[in-house]
Amino acid sequence: MTAEEAAELVLPGELLGVSGFTLAGYPKTVPEALAKRGLRLKAAGEDFRVSVFSGASTGDELDGSLSRAGLIDWRMPYQSNASLRAQINEGRVRYLDVHLGMMGPMVREGVLPKPTLAIVEAVAVTPEGRVYLSSSGGNSATFLTLADRIILEINGVYGDAFIGFHDTFLPGLPPLARPIPISNPADRVGQEYVQIDPKKIIAVVHTERADSVARFTEPDEVSQTIAGHILDFIRHEQKKGRLPEGLPYQSGVGNVANAVLAAMAHDPLQGMVNLYTEVIQEAVFSLLEAGKLGVASGTALTFSPAAQEIFKHNVRSWKHRFVIRQQEVSNHAEVIRRLGVISMNTALECDIFGNVNSSHVSGTKIMNGIGGSADFARNCYLGFFMTPSTAKNGAVSSIVPLVSHVDHTEHDTQVFVTERGIADLRGKSPEEKARLIIENCAHPNFKDLLNDYLFEGLKESKEHHLPVSLKNAFDVHLKFKETGKMRES
Ligand code: COA
Repeated sequence: MTAEEAAELVLPGELLGVSGFTLAGYPKTVPEALAKRGLRLKAAGEDFRVSVFSGASTGDELDGSLSRAGLIDWRMPYQSNASLRAQINEGRVRYLDVHLGMMGPMVREGVLPKPTLAIVEAVAVTPEGRVYLSSSGGNSATFLTLADRIILEINGVYGDAFIGFHDTFLPGLPPLARPIPISNPADRVGQEYVQIDPKKIIAVVHTERADSVARFTEPDEVSQTIAGHILDFIRHEQKKGRLPEGLPYQSGVGNVANAVLAAMAHDPLQGMVNLYTEVIQEAVFSLLEAGKLGVASGTALTFSPAAQEIFKHNVRSWKHRFVIRQQEVSNHAEVIRRLGVISMNTALECDIFGNVNSSHVSGTKIMNGIGGSADFARNCYLGFFMTPSTAKNGAVSSIVPLVSHVDHTEHDTQVFVTERGIADLRGKSPEEKARLIIENCAHPNFKDLLNDYLFEGLKESKEHHLPVSLKNAFDVHLKFKETGKMRES
């Protein structure tokens, strides 16, 4: 049926479980039609709102159009859309920001309600109810299994050649959970499709729309410098015998993460690279071109339309190099720890004691969410948090006395990197960490301010295991809020 006809089947107040992860593999035309329907109903004086569970962020066709129409009541577990973000920050949408690896199990355990309607993008569906997912795994298998009704958007841009990338496996729940038998990023332990009861399908809609991922920008100088520090550090650790060669990498969202993979591709000393990650971004193409990609396992292929075309051309020959999993498997503590993943994520700000804020500007305004960064940071073999040393054209220091919101505690962080340098926090006391972070990672314009703060902390507290100055801890954040910068120039 048409998207408009399918959108008529959505009931007011219901919980939608949608496919999609970081702008990959989300339904497009049904949400847009739903937004139009919602606006019509609102104009007629009817209250029409829905709640949305997804894998992670989705494109503007979904999060953007539904939020602009004022249709979203409750949203989980991650987003990155400007319109939706504004509504969350205005308090008009209830938003819960949770570890991406935990969302699926929480729904299946009944801690969170099960979606009543699944709206899922797929490459194909068979009469027996085999659903072949498109460019993301996300939480789609959970939503398709639990929802009573299913709308499928069959997207023709992929073609049948796309079948075979997915490895769909849902771990058991306690007390029946068994080990997940993945001991190599290439291991396949599930099925290429999600088996559903075909009687639950209430609509199949055909579309021809590419994922709307932004155009890839070449890494800037700061990102390249951060990437260089990370590669030098990894090599140093390998030489010291503390880091085995060949461990797989996880690389987070954003330009810095892309830059590290691109740097590996161009580095003559770099051997084969395997990824056990969440988002597979298009920097993997540089690795492929350089003949250095072993296997990339993730839960989403997040490629710009141009890169999607390249992928399409090579889809058959690259199939053995990519595995798309459900996000609770790509982000599973057990597997991440067994494989010894090297994890690289971006922070908004880090403090001198080792805590990281990835999600809330000034401790209050949501940017995107914690995503899967903590799934990896906590369980990895070696973990980096990277950030440019300043933000807002140098007005803000990304290294602060105390983070304004904590996503990753000092107990879960290992190495901080800015373009200024690298701080290996492992085995260091709080005071040692503080001195190292200020010396190696802070921008010179903010070093004296941070050193003064540490001095105050040491002075203020006689028992200073953690030399925090409670009196001054949030001065820079308050200053930023009041003046738009953290210090007078
Ligand atoms: N204080 C205030 N604002 C800051 C800031 C700081 N310390 N650091 C960054 N910002 C602002 C930037 O100015 C920019 O604002 P704008 O949108 O108004 O221009 C915005 O935050 C994003 O910064 P940018 O440098 O463009 O970030 P990015 O694209 O590299 O993303 C994160 C950085 C932290 C937002 C992103 O990596 C993220 O959402 N991480 C959490 C989830 C995650 O790690 N997922 C991967 C797990 S596998």
